[in-house]
Amino acid sequence: MTAAGLDLYSQALELALDLARGAGAILKAHLEGRGREERSLAFKGRRELVTAADKQAETFLVEGIQRKFPGHGILAEEGVLTPAGVSHQDAEFTWVLDPLDGTTNFVHGHPFFAVSIGVLRAGEPWLGVIHAPLLGGCDGGDFFHGGPGEGSFLNGAPIQVSRNARLQDAIVATGFSYNRNEQGVNTNLDNFGRALMQVRGIRRCGSAALDLAQVAAGRYDAFWEMYLQPYDVAAGMAIVLGAGGAIATLGSTGDPVHCEEILASNGVITRELLPFLEGKHQGLRPR
Ligand code: IPD
Ligand code: CA
Ligand code: CA
Repeated sequence: MTAAGLDLYSQALELALDLARGAGAILKAHLEGRGREERSLAFKGRRELVTAADKQAETFLVEGIQRKFPGHGILAEEGVLTPAGVSHQDAEFTWVLDPLDGTTNFVHGHPFFAVSIGVLRAGEPWLGVIHAPLLGGCDGGDFFHGGPGEGSFLNGAPIQVSRNARLQDAIVATGFSYNRNEQGVNTNLDNFGRALMQVRGIRRCGSAALDLAQVAAGRYDAFWEMYLQPYDVAAGMAIVLGAGGAIATLGSTGDPVHCEEILASNGVITRELLPFLEGKHQGLRPR
């Protein structure tokens, strides 16, 4: 405990929840003037959108973190205040920010988008906060938070991954990368086809952060995707782990925060699902 009476995790959590709420309000304000949002739209790639809302929300997050934890590292998707998106690369704690995960949904008025704030400690997921301003039963939206050994919560109530061990009873989710036209890219379509034949249902809702949060809440039994970046997964990984879930890759030996392949699950279903999924670098594993 510090003099202020809160340990570092609680202080970081308090800040992350406040910042997520503030950034969510910025996103909502942009949505309310949707005509303006359409006009401020730009492309980062052939399909990847970025809006004024992404940038304004990111600025708000980075300023808040720098005020409270000036020595912490920051990796922010849009790199608005941090050149190349990164500051203090050698710090013990790194805040990994996606100010708007699900930009395509946001632009099309689909409510499945979120502010995603992850904190890595020595490179490992430590804390995650994911806020979906338009989801949930009340005006405030949904807040997921958690971390390994700290438990995970949805709007303050504890959440747990599912217990389902059978693929045929599973509901799983995935996503498709923006760079699907490039040569040599695994489009995930074969994975999708194979998995579809095994499970009860597959969802593709367009926000990796929220997909991971659904695994943590036991609503999905598993989620996989390729070509995701640390800011897409850092917060969600911490929340899945805090809820008793497991994180794996699709065969890469690298760490799942950085290796652009993730399979998050309730733990037991990983072994069942993995044989049907092909990663970036290798063929199907023998079944
Ligand atoms: C994207 C979303 C989407 C996933 C993409 C991500 P963005 O993030 O998480 O679900 O399929 O691969 O890049 O661009 O909306 O922040
Ligand atoms: Ca994202
Ligand atoms: Ca984003």
